[in-house]
Amino acid sequence: MGDTSPLPVLNWLEGRHDVYTRAGAADLQSSIHRNLMATFKDEASAAAYLATDRSHWRQQAIIKAQFVMGRTYTGTILEIGAGTGWASSLLSTLTQVDRVYCSDYDAVAVETLMPQVQKSLNANAGKIQRVFGSFNSIPMENEVDTVISIGALHHSENLFVTFSECFKALKPGGWLVASEPTYPDSENNRKIEARYKKEDAASMKKYGKVTKHEDNSDHYYRLSEFIAAAYSAKFDVHPFVFDLAGSRQADDKVLQDRKTGTGFFPNVLYPYFAKNPANPMFDVLLLALQKPLDGGCDLNHVLSGSGRTWTGA
Ligand SMILES: C[S@@+](CC[C@H](N)C(=O)[O-])C[C@H]1O[C@@H](n2cnc3c(N)ncnc32)[C@H](O)[C@@H]1O
Repeated sequence: MGDTSPLPVLNWLEGRHDVYTRAGAADLQSSIHRNLMATFKDEASAAAYLATDRSHWRQQAIIKAQFVMGRTYTGTILEIGAGTGWASSLLSTLTQVDRVYCSDYDAVAVETLMPQVQKSLNANAGKIQRVFGSFNSIPMENEVDTVISIGALHHSENLFVTFSECFKALKPGGWLVASEPTYPDSENNRKIEARYKKEDAASMKKYGKVTKHEDNSDHYYRLSEFIAAAYSAKFDVHPFVFDLAGSRQADDKVLQDRKTGTGFFPNVLYPYFAKNPANPMFDVLLLALQKPLDGGCDLNHVLSGSGRTWTGA
């Protein structure tokens, strides 16, 4: 049984403005987070939530990522876009983890939902620092051993900025682990635009009003976009994509080998750690990024924005 008194909230947005925030999107997240209070009302309901197919997958993604990192979770962890903070709550119970920064840009999640979730999951609340803050503005440098994102990075309006902020916060050699939805590189812009323009069929239930997919901060990033932004932010990049048509040879060893396949999708794997592999997963991407021990290098490619000035005619 953990320490159950939550620490006061840190405000990383005080005096700062995140320009990469979509108007109204955080309010939609507040509505989702208000609805989730009932889901975490007690230990039994919280356990039922964690047992769902999606939650099972996400927990396994965090666990299995240790094979890719070649180490276990230790020291200081920063969870970005934590929402309920269920992952931070579970990580806080590990003895070798000293501190977990559990951050989100929605005040309802940070102020109201996270303490409830910590209680119903028996978290070690004394280790969890709740943070009201954006993953586009992280006031930390070389402090964090691991950054965790569970379905949060695809909410970024600018993946390069978000990755760069995470990179800065990480210690050299530190890792970012993310479980995210992604789309095939063959999807053209019109196809993705059509998805943004569609009415969200679940919006009444989630937000109490009809919205289009473009109204919230969900993005339909292709795998190549995640990879390009991560390399430009100076990370070493290990993407693993799971889908039902993937290689049935997948197992822990494949992750451990950090194999990079050839072809359209690198590392297309059978979803061997799904609770029910026949139920298609939403978060098909397990992305593991490492900040190189020597701090990495900037190739001055277009995305990093720091290229040389061209003076030629
Ligand atoms: C799909 S939810 C995932 C929540 C949680 N990680 C989970 O596994 O249940 C995405 C979360 O990202 C948060 N988010 C979106 N944009 C953000 C930003 N710029 N900074 C911090 N959090 C953000 C949302 O408020 C929301 O809680």
